Amino acid sequence: MSLVLTVNGRQHTVDASPETPLLYVLRNDLQLNGAKFGCGLGQCGACTVQVDGKAAYSCLLPVAAAQGRAIRTVEGLGAPEAPSPLQKAFMDEQAAQCGYCIGGMIMRAQALLDANPRPSEAHIRAHMQPNLCRCGTHMRILRAIRRAAGLPVEAASA
Ligand code: FES
Repeated sequence: MSLVLTVNGRQHTVDASPETPLLYVLRNDLQLNGAKFGCGLGQCGACTVQVDGKAAYSCLLPVAAAQGRAIRTVEGLGAPEAPSPLQKAFMDEQAAQCGYCIGGMIMRAQALLDANPRPSEAHIRAHMQPNLCRCGTHMRILRAIRRAAGLPVEAASA
């Protein structure tokens, strides 16, 4: 089935079964590998992208349901030579260990900052709760989000 997807502001025509997870199409058809396969079950967040501005698990979203919606991946934020402010904050805080979760972490955090540029500590923590990091860099990830939001990087009381 031919499907038209809008990813990072560009239209792409792909040939895929409608029930194919969006994650597979992003990675295998469009070579956008920032979103990762972790669990495939909506339990880890490694595959997080934005759909119409909201964080979404691309492993659970059938590609047909993504048609006509604005899909944004971590590649749409910035590039290594020109990182977005949030990407730069993650680098400044050295928030990656193995890095596998980071694309999803950044996309979930970006959805928060797009909706609320100066979120409270409690809001940041609640919003990021679905995304897991097995290396345990959560405290650095939180610092990066605070930095990008222009908040003190040390935690205020939640
Ligand atoms: Fe999608 Fe784990 S791979 S939530």
